Amino acid sequence: MSDQEFDPMTDHEYDGIRELDNRLPEWWLALFGITIIFGFIYWLHYEFGGGHTQVQELNLAMGVIQSVKGSGPSFSEDQLNALFTAETVGKGHEIFTAKCAACHAAEGGGLIGPNLTDKFWLHGKGTSADIFEVIAKGVPEKGMPPWAEQMTEEELVATAAFVHSLKDRNVPGGKPPQGEEAP
Ligand code: HEC
Repeated sequence: MSDQEFDPMTDHEYDGIRELDNRLPEWWLALFGITIIFGFIYWLHYEFGGGHTQVQELNLAMGVIQSVKGSGPSFSEDQLNALFTAETVGKGHEIFTAKCAACHAAEGGGLIGPNLTDKFWLHGKGTSADIFEVIAKGVPEKGMPPWAEQMTEEELVATAAFVHSLKDRNVPGGKPPQGEEAP
C-alpha cells in the first residue's frame, strides 16, 4: 500500500471518538526487528553456543586473579641482594614514605602494620626474597595491600631494598615484636 492510499481511519467509533490506526515509523519497526534478531542470536549463543554462565565467568575471572598472583615477578635471594644498593635503598625510602609510612610509620617502627625494624617476622624470615614476596603479593586478608599491580618491578625491588635495610635497626618507639624471631 502506498502512502497516498493509506487511510489511517478505522471504522471503530465510540462516543464520537474515532480510532486511527497510524503506521509505525520505519525507524521504530527497524529497531523492533533488530531486537528480535538480537534476542534470537543471544538465545542461541547462551543456550547452544557455549556462552558462559555467570558461574563460569566468575571462575574464569578467579583463574586470572590466581595466575596474576602466582606469576608475579620473582627473584632469587642472590639476584635481589645484588640489586640492593645504596641507590635502590634511597629510591625505596621515597616510595616507603609515600606508600607505606601510613601503616608502618615513617621509620618503619609500625602502626597498623608490624614493626619492620626488629628481628621478628610474620611472613618468612626477613630474607630479601621473603620481604620482596610479601610486598609484591601482600596479605590482603590482614590489611597489607599487594603492591605488584601498582608498582613496577623496579619500584618493588627498591622498596624491598629499603625494607631490608631497616632490619635490626630497632627504631625507638617501635611496635612490640610480632611473629617469629629470625635467626
Ligand atoms: C593499609 C596499611 C598498610 C600499608 C599501606 C602497607 N602495609 Fe605492609 N603490612 C600491613 C599489615 C597489617 C601487615 C601485617 C599482615 C599480617 O598480619 O599478616 C603488613 C605486613 C608487611 C610486611 C611483613 C612483615 C612481617 O612481619 O612479616 C612487610 C615487609 C610490609 N608490610 C611492607 C610494606 C611496604 C614496603 C609497604 C609499602 C609499599 C606496605 N607494607 C604498606 C599494613 C600495611
